Amino acid sequence: MMDNIRSHFPQLEDTTHGNKIIYFDNAATTLKPKSVADSLITYYQKETSNIHRGIHTLSEVSTNKYEYTRELLKDFIGANSTKEVIFTKGTTESINILAHSFSSAFIGPGDEIIITELEHHSNIVPWQLLKDRCDITIKVLPINDKGELQVEKLKELLSDKTKLISFNYISNALGIINPVKEIVKIVKENSNAFIHVDAAQASGHTKIDVKDLDCDFLSLSAHKMFGPTGCGLLYGKQEHLEKMPPFLGGGDMIDTVTFEKTTFNDLPYKFEAGTPHIGGIIAWAKAIEFINSLNFDEIQRHEDDLLKYATAKLSSIDGLTIHGTSEKKTSVISFTMEGLHAHDIATFLNKYNIAVRSGHHCTSPLMKRLGVPATARASFSIYNTKQEVDALYEALVKIKEMFC
Ligand code: ALA
Repeated sequence: MMDNIRSHFPQLEDTTHGNKIIYFDNAATTLKPKSVADSLITYYQKETSNIHRGIHTLSEVSTNKYEYTRELLKDFIGANSTKEVIFTKGTTESINILAHSFSSAFIGPGDEIIITELEHHSNIVPWQLLKDRCDITIKVLPINDKGELQVEKLKELLSDKTKLISFNYISNALGIINPVKEIVKIVKENSNAFIHVDAAQASGHTKIDVKDLDCDFLSLSAHKMFGPTGCGLLYGKQEHLEKMPPFLGGGDMIDTVTFEKTTFNDLPYKFEAGTPHIGGIIAWAKAIEFINSLNFDEIQRHEDDLLKYATAKLSSIDGLTIHGTSEKKTSVISFTMEGLHAHDIATFLNKYNIAVRSGHHCTSPLMKRLGVPATARASFSIYNTKQEVDALYEALVKIKEMFC
């Protein structure tokens, strides 16, 4: 099955920017299957119209397709109802909605929330902004030298003031898979805190089931699971969402409006103000259908294989350090090379048309903990091959010969 995968991704064959791309920047955004691009074109060329706002045929077509994506997502994450599936611009917006709406309903001055040392800025900054508004305390669960969360320290961070723990399923910077269920169990046994899982890096790599994870909220982005940019999901248990006020006010999220007072629409629309990225959300369905046509066990087997292969090859290069050495990892190798800045590595690899990300990966506190200003990051997806990893290895050996 994995043999045919590459044919779904026309960009892998494209030579506009030189020889064929080796795309190892999948943690930044994955490539898109042709079906996703075709769907976007169909929307913009044949079906452009607004949703939930017209009784003409085009609006009905778009509305139905838009709501079909919601249905697919409900099943994709194992939610109980489409009322629990809120469309957002992406994980960042989902967490910002939480930081406003969840906090309005459930958090007050003096309360505490817990995040971890592995978090993306989008799961740090919204809580700091909340802290400025609301005088809360933010506690941080540390990692060990392998990049694993020190889950054994969680109990001592929890208190009767803890209202939320918000942490990622898989680290975008290191690829570490966090023990979500173990964390949830500790939190539930020792507090009444709510649980938010940032699944941005997990979606498309591993099966997500909100009931099995037993989380209250979960966020993800379409663009990291073969869908368009600018589209995301906030899942929340209906009973919590009902209690939360809207974040943004505007069209579609209202029931009635007078100059004196507004009443709000039902879930999930209460949280969806303004005209959204309609074409993108419609095309997201094609990405979900594509993933559904595969099998997560096979996806994981392929990516684990690649990760092991790449880890062994890259580790054999003198002076190259891999950051995040936990056994529980997927799809990401973050590394530095003695005497070279990560940006130089990425610039040089680009000459071979190998795309990797370099920098802090929006995880500056984590970089500080690792004691590096930046890393180069090769991140894999289902269409990557061992031959491509060989090319990466050979290019890195050349870099070392030239510069070190
Ligand atoms: N969060 C994305 C990354 O890890 C953009 O590169």
